[in-house]
Amino acid sequence: MAAFGTVFMPQMALAKYEEQQWSDSEIVASDSISLHPGAHVLHYSSTCFEGLKAFRHADGSVAIFRMDANVSRMAQSAKLLSLPAFEPQLLNQMVTDIVNQFADEVPEPPGSMYIRPTFIGTEPAIGKAAAPSNSALLYVLLSPVGDYFAAGAKPLRLLLEEHGMRCAPHMGMVKSGGNYASALEPINQARASVDADQVLFCPNSDVQETGAANFILIDGNEVITKALDSSFLHGVTRDSILTIARDMGMTVSERELSVSELLERAAKPGCEAALSGTAAVLTPVGTLIHNGKEHTVGNGEAGETTMKLRQALNDIQWGKAEDKHGWLTKL
Ligand SMILES: Cc1ncc(COP(=O)(O)O)c(C=O)c1O
Repeated sequence: MAAFGTVFMPQMALAKYEEQQWSDSEIVASDSISLHPGAHVLHYSSTCFEGLKAFRHADGSVAIFRMDANVSRMAQSAKLLSLPAFEPQLLNQMVTDIVNQFADEVPEPPGSMYIRPTFIGTEPAIGKAAAPSNSALLYVLLSPVGDYFAAGAKPLRLLLEEHGMRCAPHMGMVKSGGNYASALEPINQARASVDADQVLFCPNSDVQETGAANFILIDGNEVITKALDSSFLHGVTRDSILTIARDMGMTVSERELSVSELLERAAKPGCEAALSGTAAVLTPVGTLIHNGKEHTVGNGEAGETTMKLRQALNDIQWGKAEDKHGWLTKL
């Protein structure tokens, strides 16, 4: 099967911002944009993006998961990057239009249609290092994807990184390309040096997140994860999992978690850790690597509560459980 995110639908939804105005959105060929090599985004990284999914239900219908949350996060990223403001309704419409266009192509569970709204500053102006782009493109790509967590996949190995950061502390909550580029070097090094799958960034011992997912610790009936601040991405899956955990009667503690507390708790039998994200859903973590030492989380296997929470989330997404929080937009 093709690697996650490498297959695209041939068309996308596109809207343009020029002369202080938004165009209507249209459906165009996915390879139809051209950019000047001096475009603002290519030099000064005026870009943000989103990732959400549409799911096929047993009755054949298609539903988009938590579109409003992703659209608001995109609007927030755009604001913090001085990209032009847009009405949430514009992006909602673009997402639903393009998913409608390719509704027949939405894979059956455990696959889904990954939706990638993207926003870029296009003004050809290399003198604008310290000024916003006055033109921009907003587009929505679609990519059919399979199950990221292939059956039998081993729980992840995470390297705890206490010195470096994923990105600048005020930018963590912005879903922007530069943050991902800045995390690549430590991730590559962790792969090469200790065969880690991901780096868990813990600057000054503050357990934050990995390069592309949030981190949660499950200790008995309690879920512990960092409280929202500007330093990390406010995952929609994180919020969904915490809501489901509360619905199941679990205690949710959104607070600071230090590396020493994490290692101490993780060693206890029955303790679990997982990464949450649109692509990862909820993926078990089996090993934490710290200062050259490997620490097994619980018994090192996929945790029971992790899999129960993952299933409960999938059941809502797949239309098998009641959508009591109104997370689905049915086409
Ligand atoms: C850095 C980072 N953290 C967390 C997440 C999880 O966010 P969400 O659950 O909204 O996909 C993502 C994206 O998937 C991410 O890129």
